[in-house]
Amino acid sequence: MKTNRASNTAGYTAAMRAIANLAPENKKILIDPYAMEFMDFPWSLTHPLFKLKIFNPLIFQIGTKVPDFMVGFPGMTALASIRHRYIDERIVAAYQQGIRQFFILGAGYDSRAFRLPLQDAHFFEIDHPNTQARKQDIVHKRKLQASCSIEYISSDFSFSWADDLFDQLKKIDTFRQEPSMVIWEGVSCYLSPKAVSYTFKTVSHFLPQESIFIFDVFPKEIMNPKTHNRLIKKMQFMVERKGEPFYWGADPDELEQTLLNERFSKVSSHSLFDINNALAKKGKYKLKPYDIFHYLNMIECQK
Ligand SMILES: C[S@@+](CC[C@H](N)C(=O)[O-])C[C@H]1O[C@@H](n2cnc3c(N)ncnc32)[C@H](O)[C@@H]1O
Repeated sequence: MKTNRASNTAGYTAAMRAIANLAPENKKILIDPYAMEFMDFPWSLTHPLFKLKIFNPLIFQIGTKVPDFMVGFPGMTALASIRHRYIDERIVAAYQQGIRQFFILGAGYDSRAFRLPLQDAHFFEIDHPNTQARKQDIVHKRKLQASCSIEYISSDFSFSWADDLFDQLKKIDTFRQEPSMVIWEGVSCYLSPKAVSYTFKTVSHFLPQESIFIFDVFPKEIMNPKTHNRLIKKMQFMVERKGEPFYWGADPDELEQTLLNERFSKVSSHSLFDINNALAKKGKYKLKPYDIFHYLNMIECQK
């Protein structure tokens, strides 16, 4: 990401969640009323319209088409919202199993500590200082109240961040060495292979047994600048234009071995395409099975 400003893609995913929040009932898979507060320019100009219920259907119609038009293929808003909902469900499941400590790496404008029913949970949001400063500024100005405890820790994942993170955590009263969940959503593709490998080592080293690590990954082909894959080419173009190019991707089989080598266990992988189909059946939602969903895998593993 550009080092002199808050993450552009974080503002963009917040805008997509804000749009998803206005979906009609049969497509409403995500409830995130906080997302609109964090939209970045130019989406932020439309903020007053998001607040007027009468405009919601229109904004949803136009809002879902604009990202598709910008990237050149359909399904971007749906991708961001299904990924987010899936992780919401996994967080709630972990909470029901007794986990109370949640670490969000590259949190961006994640609002789970504000909107999920996890009263006695402790959230630790770790992000680039610029993105985090913008988020804290908005939380403060709009007087947004978290529903559980939340601590902000700034870190740059391009460097060795483990020691600094532990030093900061040790100073926080709510931090405990106990089974936890680490969420790493929409971040891995923007980091170098070296930074990703460092993250796996750090998370594995840091997490006690019975902890959970969940993240999403695009295929290895996104690292190929000469790819002939039309969708991947368009995605590469979009993120490069936003100043946050793709640096890392991995195929599930190879990734499973990498995670097992790092002492993770019970590695599972689900394509967003399968998650979307299961969701459509379960909730009787009218959701389209976009091609782009084949390209994102949700990975979960345990310590
Ligand atoms: C696409 S956003 C995803 C944000 C959020 N997880 C979501 O799903 O909406 C990417 C996030 O990764 C963070 N990020 C990217 N490169 C980083 C780096 N080198 N160090 C720390 N954070 C970084 C950005 O600040 C941003 O919050």
